Amino acid sequence: MDNHWKPSKQGALPLYQQIYEFIQKQIISGNWPVGYKLPPQRELADNFQVNRSTVVYALEELKADGWIESQVGRGTVVCQNTWSSLTAGSRADWKTYVQSGTHLPNIQMIQEINKAEFSPTIIRLGTGELSPSLLPTAMIQQAFAETAALSLSYPEGKGSFLLRKAVSDYLQKKGIGTTPNSIMIVSGAIQALQLISVGLLDQNSAILTESPSYLNSIMVFPSAGIRMVPLNGELSFSAISRAKRLHNTALLYTTPTFHNPTGYCMAETKRMELLEACAKERMPILEDDVYGDLWFDSPPPPPLKALDKHGNVLYVGSMSKVLGPGLRIGFIAAPEPVIERLADIKMQTDYGSSTLSQFAVAKLLTNGQYDMHIEKMRHELKVRRDFVQKLLSTYFADLAVWEQPAGGFYIWLSLIKDIPLQLLFKKALQHGILINPGTLYGNFNSHIRLSYSYASFEELEEGLITLATIIRSFRA
Ligand SMILES: Cc1ncc(COP(=O)(O)O)c(C=O)c1O
Repeated sequence: MDNHWKPSKQGALPLYQQIYEFIQKQIISGNWPVGYKLPPQRELADNFQVNRSTVVYALEELKADGWIESQVGRGTVVCQNTWSSLTAGSRADWKTYVQSGTHLPNIQMIQEINKAEFSPTIIRLGTGELSPSLLPTAMIQQAFAETAALSLSYPEGKGSFLLRKAVSDYLQKKGIGTTPNSIMIVSGAIQALQLISVGLLDQNSAILTESPSYLNSIMVFPSAGIRMVPLNGELSFSAISRAKRLHNTALLYTTPTFHNPTGYCMAETKRMELLEACAKERMPILEDDVYGDLWFDSPPPPPLKALDKHGNVLYVGSMSKVLGPGLRIGFIAAPEPVIERLADIKMQTDYGSSTLSQFAVAKLLTNGQYDMHIEKMRHELKVRRDFVQKLLSTYFADLAVWEQPAGGFYIWLSLIKDIPLQLLFKKALQHGILINPGTLYGNFNSHIRLSYSYASFEELEEGLITLATIIRSFRA
């Protein structure tokens, strides 16, 4: 729904009447077709910034006039007998359309999280991004102010040469030998995954994933008809070769450095073993390294791509977790034919990533400001991690166990006693706290992904104390 409209407190009509007319307009215009489920009363009241009783009154009036009805188990929906249905013969059946299409919808809980994140009062204990207070907004403004050479033409599908060269130099410092021709700029790492899913893999093939995995929280691969096969436990040679025999697997996806959601960082010996196991099986690796720069005390082992001697690794990075996800800039380092294939699809999908964002990132990577900023982020995130560790030791010692991450954003909280996570999620939300339950990342019914990167210190403290109280109430 349009979250921006609000009734005017100075308006001539009473608030409930304005809400009545707003909803009526949505129905008549077809924005809310027959069967459309209205948001819950509490959410409507929040959006309209009125008392819940005002919303209830407006909804009662709409019900009385036959615009909406309450259905058991479904909530309040737009009626069959509205103006829309009177003219149904001439109108498109949008309800059927939105249930069609090849792309799967998000998991319901992710949809709820995506919505709740924009509520101004919510405490976001699970959000995987930097706090707005940590984003280098001034640096980016300065980068724009200092230039005359900003292009607003369509960019090259692969990305601007300037940025590809800057990324290639940046990757050299990580031990990854690339050239600008084997780099491609994408609109965030998620686009890299999407292009790979439709550009390199057959429908009905499968990819191996760690368990838990970020991939379970997005529908990119299943929407392309690709199955995800979780490898439980270690990514061992025997597990990989067994999975390859059983599942027609085309690729192994891993986030070896500061994993989402566990925060785990793979040791160098393990990386070497994994590379060797995959090489023996001729199984390419898709390495997702969006957190690799965010280490605290010492750098992590080199990326798989830097250790790879066979050219088997597709490497994906992003500026989202370090400079800001709103830039929508990520990149792929891969063999040139792969880049050409993916760039061709990108040209057909979005004609290239934003020239403004590409320009800003190239500037920060080449003028030394990226390095300065990242140093600062490492320090800030370490302080935040320590702060949350302390809170957890105080309030969660008898409720959960966890490991201290050496970088990245996340702590993977393992609850000592099982509680229904769906209910916990709902109850926390009622208390204004947003969490990412483990079930979003696989079959993890007693885990919560906590993030120390987003909420303010005050919010982290308030949120974790309240969350501990809610968990205790379940146990009681
Ligand atoms: C492991 C991992 N890969 C990819 C992404 C997507 O990042 P981007 O904003 O660059 O699309 C995320 C975001 O949460 C992530 O955690």
